[in-house]
Amino acid sequence: MELVSAQAMLDDAYKRKYAIGHFNLNNMESVRAFLFAAQEANSPIILSVSGGTAKYMGGYQTISHMVLDFIKYLKITVPVALHVDHGTYDEVLQAIDEGFSSVMFDGSSLPIEKNLEMTSEILRRAHMRGISVEAEVGGIGGEEDGHIAKGEYADPKHCKMMADLGVDFLAAGIGNIHGKYPENWDGLDFDLLASIKQAVGPLPLVLHGGSGIPEEQVRRAIALGISKINVNTECQIAFTEATKQYFLDGKDLESKGFTPRAMLAPGIEATKRLCIQKMELFGSVNRA
Ligand code: 13P
Repeated sequence: MELVSAQAMLDDAYKRKYAIGHFNLNNMESVRAFLFAAQEANSPIILSVSGGTAKYMGGYQTISHMVLDFIKYLKITVPVALHVDHGTYDEVLQAIDEGFSSVMFDGSSLPIEKNLEMTSEILRRAHMRGISVEAEVGGIGGEEDGHIAKGEYADPKHCKMMADLGVDFLAAGIGNIHGKYPENWDGLDFDLLASIKQAVGPLPLVLHGGSGIPEEQVRRAIALGISKINVNTECQIAFTEATKQYFLDGKDLESKGFTPRAMLAPGIEATKRLCIQKMELFGSVNRA
């Protein structure tokens, strides 16, 4: 199975009112965990790579080769898209050349005219190769890879401009943030989501900061046109908690428990389980 663009996945999700999970890669263990999860749940999946992960894992080409080889080696048959998360212009162009099947250009910190101009050039180059494109307007708050953005609420007029450009799916800030939500978080702004939906018509929308959003808000967001949900922090926490428990239980002191592969196995399993739970919540199970 080759990598696929995310466009067909998202169109189906949009039409049938479910969402595709986007899961951030952090290392080789996460590649294994998410591919096992998608296959077990018979769900399409988007594997995503931030600039920080790309640097850590040896660049876009190393990652695209690794993911493709794992798909073949593990006999994964469900659709897998490999996507750039919050890419700069240069990162996106590089990933397009180095085997990615989907990209997000994040021009949300630019004036809207400049964001439109650069997104349109990315679209031209990506679509020539059948690669799907996500754009962003209105920054997502919180911190990711050391990049701290103040949460912004997207302007539906700007969303419409992006939709008119022909992007495949759009991330628009509606009070969502990356990382852990503060105790006093106001929740998602569903009125704004409805206005954005009205402005953009039948364009799949993307919810970033998918960790820690109460389940009923997730379901409501999907009903209002969210077709892709990005999850990273909760998977990282699941991995770390399982690894911590391994040491607390003294497993590293038993037999060959000190080997890195043995030590990483509980984290992989916990990440896989969490990923499947998210797929169940998003409604993507058995949609492959
Ligand atoms: P969380 O880390 O909050 O789950 O957000 C992930 C994300 O939006 C990646 O783009």
